[in-house]
Amino acid sequence: MLAYCALNQLKSSLRALYTRKFSFIGQEIWYPSSRSELDLIDKSYEDCVSRLGASYPGYDDSSYMKWLKNTRNIDQSVDADVTDIVYPSDTYQTWKILYARLRELHLECACEEHKENLRELEQLGIYSPEKIPQFSLVNKYLNYKTGFKLVPCGGMINPRSFLYGLAYKIFYSSRYIRHQSAVFYSPEPDVAHELMGHVPLFANNDFAELSQSIGLRSLGATEEEIEKLAKIYFYSVEFGIVGNQILGAGILGSCDEIALIKNKKVEIKEWDLEKVLKSEFTLSDYQPGYYSAESLLEMKRLIKEGIDFIRPMQPLKRIPVYL
Ligand SMILES: [Fe+2]
Repeated sequence: MLAYCALNQLKSSLRALYTRKFSFIGQEIWYPSSRSELDLIDKSYEDCVSRLGASYPGYDDSSYMKWLKNTRNIDQSVDADVTDIVYPSDTYQTWKILYARLRELHLECACEEHKENLRELEQLGIYSPEKIPQFSLVNKYLNYKTGFKLVPCGGMINPRSFLYGLAYKIFYSSRYIRHQSAVFYSPEPDVAHELMGHVPLFANNDFAELSQSIGLRSLGATEEEIEKLAKIYFYSVEFGIVGNQILGAGILGSCDEIALIKNKKVEIKEWDLEKVLKSEFTLSDYQPGYYSAESLLEMKRLIKEGIDFIRPMQPLKRIPVYL
């Protein structure tokens, strides 16, 4: 315990040192120049429970809230193996119901790249409705496919830190699962969103390259550039559409949002950088509109052109390739 506290103190001091160093120099912004330096970034997260109070699903369930708090309380090094966690027995029913419903909707509405890898995850026995997959097993699969790695975090972290992770093929993810009283709703990204929405696509090379390319441009970016990159990420990785099929995990993790797209109840515009950058997005409600590219490859091309315009590729001390 003492060693753990000392390590945390050391990390805080190093982070403070870096911040002081670069604010003294002037405009230069610190960024991790190797994957292990990601352990120095700020991973404080939005406290959704405090923000929503009694309207947070499960707020009155003291044993769930205690488990939720413990599950968020993580200090995971990016290079260490992710240790397994114990899910309370009643969360298995939540997973089972949600898995079956999402699976059915995905077959109908998800893009081919997502469906192909979801099928593969099932064939390999990593995914099933019976058990919430542990990150350790999912990471072995992702490492083999694209080199991406899920690293648990406490909740929604700030965009800069999150994008820095993508640069090094680290995807900061939640491990808690929504409360059983609200199986089809979560006020913040939970493990169902990460595993059912994101993981099958992070196992696709084009999608992995697209995501990493956004992250790479964030290294040392200004606040204005981070804001633009976050919008590009948001309207592709989280809420993108390709053709008539869904790519974004923000949609693929939500039964209601899939239904909105499926039933054409929302506006879907052609993916266009200028329009994307002018759009506002919300993290707590459905999006005012969505953007669609012809295919995943076309979206990748549009984004590559877009980020080159916003922030040309910077020379890095070490090019992060983890495959
Ligand atoms: Fe997400």
